Amino acid sequence: MAQEVRGVIAPGKDEPVRIETIVVPDPGPGEAVVRVQACGVCHTDLHYKQGGINDDFPFLLGHEAAGVVESVGDDVTDVAPGDFVILNWRAVCGTCRACLRGRPWYCFDTHNAEQKMTLTDGTELSPALGIGAFAEKTLVAAGQCTKVDPAVAPEVAGLLGCGVMAGIGAAINTGDVGRGDSVAVIGCGGVGDAAIAGSRLAGAARIIAVDIDDRKLETARSMGATHTVNSRTTDPVEAIRDLTGGNGADVVIEAVGRPETYKQAFYARDLAGTVVLVGVPTPDMKIELPLLDVFGRGGSLKSSWYGDCLPSRDFPMLIDLHLQGRLDLGAFVTETIALDEVEKAFERMHRGDVLRSVVVL
Ligand code: APR
Ligand code: ZN
Ligand code: ZN
Repeated sequence: MAQEVRGVIAPGKDEPVRIETIVVPDPGPGEAVVRVQACGVCHTDLHYKQGGINDDFPFLLGHEAAGVVESVGDDVTDVAPGDFVILNWRAVCGTCRACLRGRPWYCFDTHNAEQKMTLTDGTELSPALGIGAFAEKTLVAAGQCTKVDPAVAPEVAGLLGCGVMAGIGAAINTGDVGRGDSVAVIGCGGVGDAAIAGSRLAGAARIIAVDIDDRKLETARSMGATHTVNSRTTDPVEAIRDLTGGNGADVVIEAVGRPETYKQAFYARDLAGTVVLVGVPTPDMKIELPLLDVFGRGGSLKSSWYGDCLPSRDFPMLIDLHLQGRLDLGAFVTETIALDEVEKAFERMHRGDVLRSVVVL
């Protein structure tokens, strides 16, 4: 029997979000229904609302979530009703060319639920990133559910579903930050701060935070930055070189997603160093670099998709480290809010007042 729950939808381009009754079908083969306990408010939700992702309105927003599996399709064996899970938006297929080569974190054929959630009049909803978790319950592919230790608070766990995982993974997976490395992180929002926390976790000796906002630099310090640079007043490339014996950082993580900050990252790394782009650019952005510099400086220029994470490997591990007190995921939760406060949370996010507002259900 399909059930009716409350959820937050974006009805049309730039229209305010509103709460509607959502019809959630019973899970079919390969699917699961999850009772959502918490879901963070991410920039991507705002982009959906603004029409910046695509025009498939109405969207069921929310995608950084944790909850309890309520029911699963007949053939589902890896999760069961009662399991506490974090939802991911890259359910690994197991059969594409990346998966078959043993690189499932790159999976080129990630999937979502087959059935559609709808409004009561039958209008099909597009769930944000195939999740749609600003709702009391949501229908996802069973592979989007990753079991973790239920001792963690849901509002903390859910953050690993998107931005915080992207940042930590940019450091520990894509950047392969290791003991003793110097790291610079450009852009210290939720993603950049998570890259800082990930670098600290990995044993980086020097972590340089760069931002144009002093408030952000202060938070960055509490996340593990050893040095801070305000790039509005100081040339960040020179500052990073000065702080690394004149050489540049081993790994520079670009967590803004703009041509000028990418260039800074490119020139602020040491010879043979690594640049990791985790900030997401827009289609109009272009960059020009002397090809000789690309060759001559060596090393690697990488992008990080969702922190190149493998949910089944990374989510339980990071939750365990959090529970051991070695990774303070709670520091990313600025406030918890109710389902009807998402619009307000967008405004706060837009002003840069919060790392994460998390809807608790
Ligand atoms: N130089 C340095 N820092 C900058 C610059 C700049 N030119 N422009 C903006 N910033 C800083 C902002 O002050 C802010 O602290 O970058 C940070 C961006 O943080 P948020 O807006 O909170 O974004 P976040 O959630 O961290 O995501 C960052 O990663 O996943 C992507 O789509 C996401 O592109 C976005 C990026
Ligand atoms: Zn695959
Ligand atoms: Zn997100």
